[in-house]
Amino acid sequence: MFAASRIASAASKRAFSTSAANLSKVAVLGAAGGIGQPLSLLMKQNPHVTELSLYDIVNTPGVAADLSHINTNSTVKGYTPENDGLKSALEGAHVVVIPAGMLPVKIPGVPRKPGMTRDDLFNTNASIVRDLAEASAKYCPDAHFLIISNPVNSTVPIFAETLKKAGVFNPKKLYGVTTLDVVRASRFVAEVKNKDPKDCKITVVGGHSGVTIVPLLSQSGETFTKEELDALTHRIQFGGDEVVQAKNGTGSATLSMAFAGARFASSVLDATVGGKKGVIEPSFVQSDLFKDQGVEYFSSNIELGAEGVEKIHGLGEISDYEKELISKAVPELQKNITKGNNFVQ
Ligand code: NAI
Repeated sequence: MFAASRIASAASKRAFSTSAANLSKVAVLGAAGGIGQPLSLLMKQNPHVTELSLYDIVNTPGVAADLSHINTNSTVKGYTPENDGLKSALEGAHVVVIPAGMLPVKIPGVPRKPGMTRDDLFNTNASIVRDLAEASAKYCPDAHFLIISNPVNSTVPIFAETLKKAGVFNPKKLYGVTTLDVVRASRFVAEVKNKDPKDCKITVVGGHSGVTIVPLLSQSGETFTKEELDALTHRIQFGGDEVVQAKNGTGSATLSMAFAGARFASSVLDATVGGKKGVIEPSFVQSDLFKDQGVEYFSSNIELGAEGVEKIHGLGEISDYEKELISKAVPELQKNITKGNNFVQ
């Protein structure tokens, strides 16, 4: 009797540890890039991760070897397209984070052809994201997909449409990563109000570029002059440009983005693997909030649960100033989303 229960308990422990191991494989696609490397470093420090799977078209063996010496519990493997690398990188993944792509700036060594326009760049990133979505549909259709590759307002619809074509789209598990907008908003407001950013939680809604980024500063508990509102709103909407200018054509936000991406991925792991309740993050997801205005995806605070998006929060009470911002964001979002949808059609 005792021996039998010990065997049963060992068997259940084995079953638990096997499924826990599978549940915690995190794949980073574009892992050798400016965002991918520091993001992978941060994920190596996450105790929920048991296997870190790094895929890129180049250089992942080196990045993986380097990270694999860090004495946290996860194993690290690097994959390139050779030997079915994408398949191996994705199989069994619980979370797939995607910062693969090309930047809207010239980077030495990155093959951006002379005369390449923003549309060419759109097509490049759109194709990369579509191809990665096709592979994801095949090798890990049940994973949570976190899209960092820009333009997020279009790449999320592209990923969704591709998964739909394969018959495996689950809207609860596809997220456009907009965390950097709330990270910046918190930091910028803290600077103006001379506070610790941890005491400045700013909700940001809409989308993830320019005027589609709508900070709800009226809900921050702070008061602002009209000048402060204008300056902060502009800085939050176009904060990325500060980094691009400061990097002088060699890149865009990578370190702050890695921080933000790792925060979002960690929240997904906390809710889906760690069983944590009440995890709330902003994300650009399939949403009914502005569906009647033809906007199928929208970023707002979402509550994460064991299966992904559990609840989509509404905007709450917003000021006239913010209503005006939303009215500018909506038509732009419609265009961006349609562009993404059309790319896959
Ligand atoms: P990067 O050029 O340094 O890295 C991109 C990586 O993607 C490169 O290592 C490249 O080899 C890889 N890659 C290209 N095609 C691939 C494919 N088919 N499969 C796998 N990997 C592939 O660029 P960075 O700075 O890391 O930015 C990556 C993306 O993230 C860009 O689209 C950028 O606009 C976007 N981004 C998004 C932000 C957000 O808040 N969501 C913020 C900042 C950047």
